[in-house]
Amino acid sequence: MFFIPKFNEKTEKDKPMSKAAFKFMARHFKNRDKKYPPPDKIKKTKIKQGDVVLDYGCGPGSYTIAAAEAVGSTGKVYAVDIHPLAINEVKKRANERGIRNIETILTDCNTKLEDRVVDVVLLLDIYHDLSNPESILTELHRILKENSWLIFDDHHIKEDEIITKIESNGLFKFIERKDEVFIFMKI
Ligand SMILES: C[S@@+](CC[C@H](N)C(=O)[O-])C[C@H]1O[C@@H](n2cnc3c(N)ncnc32)[C@H](O)[C@@H]1O
Repeated sequence: MFFIPKFNEKTEKDKPMSKAAFKFMARHFKNRDKKYPPPDKIKKTKIKQGDVVLDYGCGPGSYTIAAAEAVGSTGKVYAVDIHPLAINEVKKRANERGIRNIETILTDCNTKLEDRVVDVVLLLDIYHDLSNPESILTELHRILKENSWLIFDDHHIKEDEIITKIESNGLFKFIERKDEVFIFMKI
């Protein structure tokens, strides 16, 4: 008997996309960022100077860099991605700009950070990609400080489903929306 996988079947473990797909995506994001500058989105979040931010699924680092500039030298940004090319690109961009407050983490879920060390998590344009979003949300909840923030944006998810999905396991509560950015608080 043959096993025929469905085209968009979700696996238990996420896999990095091909190198070609990543490079194509990075080029697309360069154009996106010209039209919609990342600092404008960061202004809609709760990020402030001195914060510890974690950019989950950072990709080539558009929002990592903007967040690192917003938190300044007293803050820090963890840039997390499953793809080695994402980690390389973030390091390259940070070096080019002389930014020293970014630490990269290559993982598909477990950040290996201590509990309650992060002020703001960015979960931007990645939720739709996740095979097991519950495990990622549980990990993000673990590393966030009490009453701190999960910033969500994903144009692939229907707007009226976002709040239900993120609140469904009782870890986060919807607080407010600023345009495309949904702000949740850790419960
Ligand atoms: C569409 S890109 C978004 C990048 C960035 N957040 C942005 O908006 O510019 C999604 C990123 O999530 C990463 N990714 C997918 N599944 C992941 C997982 N389970 N853990 C960590 N990163 C993941 C991909 O490698 C990719 O770089």
